[in-house]
Amino acid sequence: MRVIIEKDYEAMSKRAAQFVAELVRNKPDCVLGLATGSTPVSMYKELTRMHKEEGLDFSLVTTFNLDEYYGLPPDHEQSYYYFMQENLFKHINVSPHRVRVPSGLAKDVKAYCESYERMIKEVGGIDIQVLGIGGDGHIAFNEPGSSLASRTRLVALDEQTIKDNARFFEKEEDVPRYAITMGVGTILEAKRLMLLANGKKKAKVVAQAIEGPVTSQITASALQLHPDVIVVLDEEAASELKRREYYLHAEKMIQEFYGG
Ligand code: GLP
Repeated sequence: MRVIIEKDYEAMSKRAAQFVAELVRNKPDCVLGLATGSTPVSMYKELTRMHKEEGLDFSLVTTFNLDEYYGLPPDHEQSYYYFMQENLFKHINVSPHRVRVPSGLAKDVKAYCESYERMIKEVGGIDIQVLGIGGDGHIAFNEPGSSLASRTRLVALDEQTIKDNARFFEKEEDVPRYAITMGVGTILEAKRLMLLANGKKKAKVVAQAIEGPVTSQITASALQLHPDVIVVLDEEAASELKRREYYLHAEKMIQEFYGG
């Protein structure tokens, strides 16, 4: 696991965008796994800037989003589909038919979830999966207790997640109680994972995920099982890591070894 600590949210976001941009340049028809939430917003801004100012070309890129609230139509302002349009898709040249966000309106949910998995396989799998971390240590909407082998499915949201996400809705009662989410097992199949976290509020759960035991109680801890993980943090989110000094040292040494 490569842990990169940047001084603040902006630096964290730029660094994360560089990893995505590097992949898009080297493999123009790559498959990006994308996340919602406030954490990746500035990374998406930086990718937009790179597209506009540096010609970063998304025309052949395919994207898959991690999750969607169940019951919300794509044009609902709090749907994750809408979020992706507003924060990234409408600003870059990604082709609309290569963009996938789980449907919040699927009728036969089980069949739909299986088809989402199939679509990921059909394009050869996800090259890099961007992840945030929830206050309860979840990745996507894999709440504590989700099997580490779980697949795309309908989940019931945890009370804490509903509270955490209520800030985006008019009132807490408006937050959907269900979501469709990629499973932990689905996420672990991506070729590379990149977890982002910023702010003091995430410090404890980040330390549990990175340095604690691998447990279904903190589904982000499953990242420890993956061979190619980059964790990009700001100073605040890194503040409770026991091995913080080592990560800073290791990153410097690795950069020196590979020359930049
Ligand atoms: C939601 C999403 C997660 C996201 C998490 C953190 O629960 N399903 O994918 O990582 O929120 O959100 P934020 O980045 O706003 O802290």
